Amino acid sequence: MSGLRLGFIGLGHITQNAHLAPLSELVESGDVVFQAFCDVHEETASEQAKKWGAKSVYTDYRAMFDAEELDAVYLCIPPTLHTDVELIAAEKGIALFVEKPQTLDVQQAVEYRDAIEAAGIVAQVGFMSRYYPASEKVCELLEGLTPRHAQVQLFYSGKHVRLWTSRMELCGGSFVENTIHMVDLLRFFLGDISAVSAFYFDRKSGEGPEPINMPHVYNVNYQFARGAVANATTSRVLTNVPYQRRTLTVVADDTLIDWSTQDVSVNGEIVAQWDDRPNAFALQARAFVDAVKKSDPKSVRSPYSEALNSLTAVLGANVSAAQGGERVVLDDMIQGKVVWTPKEVA
Ligand SMILES: NC(=O)c1ccc[n+]([C@@H]2O[C@H](COP(=O)([O-])OP(=O)(O)OC[C@H]3O[C@@H](n4cnc5c(N)ncnc54)[C@H](O)[C@@H]3O)[C@@H](O)[C@H]2O)c1
Repeated sequence: MSGLRLGFIGLGHITQNAHLAPLSELVESGDVVFQAFCDVHEETASEQAKKWGAKSVYTDYRAMFDAEELDAVYLCIPPTLHTDVELIAAEKGIALFVEKPQTLDVQQAVEYRDAIEAAGIVAQVGFMSRYYPASEKVCELLEGLTPRHAQVQLFYSGKHVRLWTSRMELCGGSFVENTIHMVDLLRFFLGDISAVSAFYFDRKSGEGPEPINMPHVYNVNYQFARGAVANATTSRVLTNVPYQRRTLTVVADDTLIDWSTQDVSVNGEIVAQWDDRPNAFALQARAFVDAVKKSDPKSVRSPYSEALNSLTAVLGANVSAAQGGERVVLDDMIQGKVVWTPKEVA
């Protein structure tokens, strides 16, 4: 196959700041062609097409699918706006890269998964943290060990950034929108999650800063299919200091492993370190392009079907928190017996 003909749907923040630069290197090497850029905001699509040399511009993805011969599509739109791109791509046999969270509706994700699996296309969800060399190192360290406990801390600013990531009904809350990366990383290390229980510290109506209506704190407990347990805390209490914390710890036998994007420690001693933070988006892009070229859906680290467990795990936390911390079995969500809708936690 010559250069992979790539279409982009959604040319906003993540596309502009994370995906296009590394992919443009693959354009230079002849691996990729920027065939078509589509954004409902025409000016955005045109500006980005001019900047990156895309061949054509659309404001309607259906028109793009009708007119273009594409090998793969990047779908980078907010989670509540997913409709039928996944189904069209599956029907046409076009590979798919979908940003996390795949949607806020588990049954919709199940429908997409079924179509993707039936079509046999490469479909990758954007859990780029699996591509940090530090993540590979943790997997390597865990070989032959029995992980029993893991812990995630994600403390970051409670300031408003933009509307859809500030509203529970539009992004599912910070645990869904952001901590999903860390939950997915837990799964990379410990396998699938089977059940969840959560308590949130909700924001009182009008407490602000406007227009944020999401919890201050998310305290979440997980049970893994293999028996291990984990807890993940996300706090957006700090608003006026530039301090952030993102930690992930795994305890297995006599080994306490601390992961970060730039180093890995065992029992307090650094065992691997990277001077500059590796560009996980670039590594993820390379893996996706290679998988499409080989027509090998299994060679990406977050195939759509497997990533469903990460999505269910974070939406399941919302269900549990709305039910006073009740244990939620993730299979019940896949089967549609338990559903999260934003109204339940409004
Ligand atoms: N991997 C990461 O670390 C990371 C970081 C940020 C965002 N994201 C995810 O990426 C996705 C997009 O987020 P963003 O920050 O780029 O959002 P954004 O709001 O900045 O951009 C979304 C773009 O999609 C366009 N759009 C919306 N509906 C469309 C449609 N039907 N057809 C064509 N264009 C459409 C909008 O006009 C906008 O330009 C979200 O799922 C988000 O969670 C991932």
